[in-house]
Amino acid sequence: MTAKRALRPREGILDIAPYVPGRSALEGGGPAIKLSSNETPFGPSPKAVEAYLAAGANLSRYPDGSARPLREAIAKLYGLDPARIVCGAGSDELLNLLAAAYLGPGDEAIYSRHGFLVYRIAILAMGATPVVAQEVALTADVDAILGCVTPATRMVFLANPNNPTGTYLGFDEVKRLRAGLPETVLLVLDAAYAEYVRANDYESGIELVATTHNTVMTRTFSKIYGLASLRIGWAYCPEAIADALNRIRGPFNVSGPAIAAGVAALQDRASVARSAEHNEIWLGRMAEALSALGLMVTPSAANFLLVHFPAANGRSAVEADKFLHSRRIILRRVEEYGFPDALRLTIGTEDDNRAVIEALEAFTGGSGVAQ
Ligand SMILES: Cc1ncc(COP(=O)(O)O)c(C=O)c1O
Repeated sequence: MTAKRALRPREGILDIAPYVPGRSALEGGGPAIKLSSNETPFGPSPKAVEAYLAAGANLSRYPDGSARPLREAIAKLYGLDPARIVCGAGSDELLNLLAAAYLGPGDEAIYSRHGFLVYRIAILAMGATPVVAQEVALTADVDAILGCVTPATRMVFLANPNNPTGTYLGFDEVKRLRAGLPETVLLVLDAAYAEYVRANDYESGIELVATTHNTVMTRTFSKIYGLASLRIGWAYCPEAIADALNRIRGPFNVSGPAIAAGVAALQDRASVARSAEHNEIWLGRMAEALSALGLMVTPSAANFLLVHFPAANGRSAVEADKFLHSRRIILRRVEEYGFPDALRLTIGTEDDNRAVIEALEAFTGGSGVAQ
């Protein structure tokens, strides 16, 4: 009898640390205030839900394979060429497709020290080598990224704003990055939180994609549009890159209900504007309230805040997390991002936000004593 040989995935796959999503429930179940995944507290536009339910009447039919109605709606809203938009099952799928199309063993891809962890997984999954660029003040640093470039560099992933820090690079810096990278390096601008950014010097990436042949921007319906569970993302690409992605993506990678809901969500501009306005108000209020408790808060351009706790016994992030759970509030632990002493807090409804402030007031013992 021949000896059985173990079936093993490709080299390196089992060395990949799986992505750990934010906690979504507490022990014993029951309702909780979930501020752990940067979702909108308002849910999707009712028009999107209506379109989703109506699409339920056609589940036996394959959807449009290229998500054409959704690409056309996106193109109309932003004034883009629909042929250069590729939709995916969340922007995660597009990030992975970009890595699959442009990375292989021997190649290097750069991301910043506290960058979104899906990049590392996507790079390693292709057998390529992740290269980590240091940050300055928890913000991506153009010079550090450029300093990591070698002849083997093929891609740079930049979340702008970044998750979990919330920090961003202004357009001048992004342009400086692009100009400093070799022509053969693909720059991926992940603008998952673009709709929340209020800074005048911010540009999501549309302009750079329009004017270069080696830059891609990815966007999502999971955040301000409140459709995280439907899994819809899109990439705006140079023609040749859209062509490459279209060759390797699943032929029906976005479902019919997702396409329908995405189109309706995009059209409800009032709902997007309301969410952005609420976020702007509460991002500021939360940062102020938590700072007043003596907690350090990283300035954020997105819909979440990175809140730093002292390492001291009884005051740490781990203990704060436990305390918050006792009040049925769930934030995001961020150890795997290199922040053992921080928690990430998504901006919630007014009631959610007030509950967090009250709980952290109780945890820190009141104003100014946390550190
Ligand atoms: C920076 C960043 N990019 C991409 C994503 C992925 O979003 P999705 O796959 O839901 O579109 C997230 C989600 O948390 C994110 O924070």
